[in-house]
Amino acid sequence: MRKKYIIGNWKMHKTTRDAKTFVVDLETSVPQTYFEKYVIGVCPSFLALNAAKKSASKLLICAQDVHYETKGAYTGEVSYLMLKELGINTSLVGHSERRIYFNETNASCNLKLKILFENKMMAIYCVGETLKEYEENKTKEIITKQIEEGLKDIQEEDLEYLVIAYEPVWSIGSGKSASSEIAKEVNILIREVLTSLYNSELSKRVSILYGGSVNKNNVNEYLGCEEIDGVLVGGASLEVESFMTLITNLK
Ligand code: PGA
Repeated sequence: MRKKYIIGNWKMHKTTRDAKTFVVDLETSVPQTYFEKYVIGVCPSFLALNAAKKSASKLLICAQDVHYETKGAYTGEVSYLMLKELGINTSLVGHSERRIYFNETNASCNLKLKILFENKMMAIYCVGETLKEYEENKTKEIITKQIEEGLKDIQEEDLEYLVIAYEPVWSIGSGKSASSEIAKEVNILIREVLTSLYNSELSKRVSILYGGSVNKNNVNEYLGCEEIDGVLVGGASLEVESFMTLITNLK
């Protein structure tokens, strides 16, 4: 059975001290049963990763990005090796804010997925169309390209390290969440693309999440769909109270 994920993406929020307090408070306020049913995690900034990891005993602590080289002259970047040393084994790859503001491409995402998988680390690979592409009915084309190019030359044995998150750019931070119908349709499409690249058996093993304005009131619409294996949450994951309620509202 595929795992279900509830992951908070903190983006450029929270100092080391804030991250530490949050992790401790969330772990004490969310009942154990939720940790048994879901993989619950947060993605702090690089600087706060160590403190968050040290404070966490149940939460999955993930990076928000990783460089595709092991080391080298890449000022400002962080490699998988540096993450691994802290015990961090998961990273987001290709979040739309990285694609929009930092020129992340499907090709660079592909290199990042490769370095993670080569080192037996997990990736949450984010895909999603812009508002313009959505309005021009290009969702299918864009998502297919993001999956095909992102997963180029990724071997089938590496799929066990892959989680995909469908995050329509127009729904991120906008309060305009995609309906669960749309999310479900795109998740089905993603699984079809995976089937065409690999096979149906393998594609069924990959967890596919939805992200974009998920909150405590709409979370059940997504998790209620068989095709949606979890959520990637931005704004609603920033306060303990709000993230805890989102989790404990899950039916
Ligand atoms: P949001 O962000 O929940 O604030 O829309 C989601 C994300 O960027 O992953």
